[in-house]
Amino acid sequence: MKISVKTGSGIELMRESNRRLGILHDELSEIIKPGITTAYINKCGEELIEKLGGVPNFKNYEGYPAAICVSVNDEVVHGIPTEDRVLDEGDIVSLDAGLIYKGFHSDAARTHAVGEIAPEVARLVTETRRSFFAGVSRAVAGGRLYDISNGVASYIERFGYGIVYDLTGHGIGRSLHEEPMIPNFHVKKRGPKLESGMTLAVEPMITLGRGDVEWLDDDWTVVTADGSWAAHYENTILITEGEPEILSLGEKEKPYLEEAKRLGLFGKEKED
Ligand code: MF3
Ligand code: CO
Repeated sequence: MKISVKTGSGIELMRESNRRLGILHDELSEIIKPGITTAYINKCGEELIEKLGGVPNFKNYEGYPAAICVSVNDEVVHGIPTEDRVLDEGDIVSLDAGLIYKGFHSDAARTHAVGEIAPEVARLVTETRRSFFAGVSRAVAGGRLYDISNGVASYIERFGYGIVYDLTGHGIGRSLHEEPMIPNFHVKKRGPKLESGMTLAVEPMITLGRGDVEWLDDDWTVVTADGSWAAHYENTILITEGEPEILSLGEKEKPYLEEAKRLGLFGKEKED
């Protein structure tokens, strides 16, 4: 397994690509409301990527037809935006987006509430996000890759949720998907050593039911096998000697990092 290590301008460009993506997600979060179509979200997203000086990396990726993956309720990831899918009050919608800036990729996902949502669904969304921070807090130079996986899994398992095991996070850099795969479930061995300059997309996908998924006939949309609803939270991170840098965290998202620190999910290893 060869995990690419970025240095100098490579790190700067990863920061810049992901900083722009953070802004994109912040702006897209503002348009989510009942009555809009998933195609409208994609259209806004694609226009914003261009305005931000980026190039959509999902569009035409292995034939994927849109710039943003828009997945509703029991759709876990890779939903294809359409004009006839209208968001309703009480839905959740996961937006997965990325861009290329000067040759370097960014990748991040958020699950948003559409209007008022049921308390148990809100909890799924919140805890999925927290599981990301719990996993990423272990991502330091000298640590091991599967410490991240085990961090996500040991945080989320107390809630009885399903962990999607057919899909994983991944390395990212000059390509959208690089080695290694980053599972969100427990792995017994600790895996390869993490080094400063590695950039990883960590992305827990968590369900209210079981973790089994299926693919729809469009060959893209991943849905839960049991119809339970799913949440997704993803950021691109940079491994450093200290606390990992979460590169795609926009201003609107930064309070969640602070929350994770207050809860002791993030950075607790360095307290003593
Ligand atoms: N963020 C997605 C992932 O890591 C990228 C999806 S590629 C697309 O799986 F083609 F589905 F858009
Ligand atoms: Co990804």
